[in-house]
Amino acid sequence: MRAVVYYETLKGHTRTAAEHIASAMHAADVSVTVRPVGSVDLDELAQADLVVIGTWVHGLRWFGVGPAGMGKIGRFPIMTGKPAAVFCTYRWDPKQSLETLASAVTDRGGRVLDGAAFQEHDLTAGVRDFVADLLVSAAA
Ligand SMILES: Cc1cc2nc3c(=O)[nH]c(=O)nc-3n(C[C@H](O)[C@H](O)[C@H](O)COP(=O)(O)O)c2cc1C
Repeated sequence: MRAVVYYETLKGHTRTAAEHIASAMHAADVSVTVRPVGSVDLDELAQADLVVIGTWVHGLRWFGVGPAGMGKIGRFPIMTGKPAAVFCTYRWDPKQSLETLASAVTDRGGRVLDGAAFQEHDLTAGVRDFVADLLVSAAA
């Protein structure tokens, strides 16, 4: 299986989370690369069996909370039917960020199988389970 993990980051946490996801995939014999969401190689995307897209959460903690980088994600190439997953990193509460991100990826044609939110102070918590469940879903 081939996968690409795309990330949008301001301070690096989401890139780190993307690298943790990629490490867990690599340990499961997935051929995986990690790229900024604005740097898509169309051949690499076309050959991927699975695409993971992640970003960070921005807002005013209680109000206006949502996924950052939606402009770039809205310009992501169309990938009709491609199995996909979403993730975000946050500090306090991601609120509906995963659902908003999943909707944007669905709009680009991705078939979203799963999503996970990672707290910035513990970016490894839940990664192994997220990847294990995702790989089962993607293989089904
Ligand atoms: C301007 C700004 C606004 C933020 N707003 C929120 C928020 O409303 N809720 C939240 O849980 N985290 C919020 N965060 C925290 C980030 O989502 C968190 O630090 C994330 O891991 C940053 O990812 P990055 O290092 O990849 O940029 C905010 C961070 C910044 C810089």
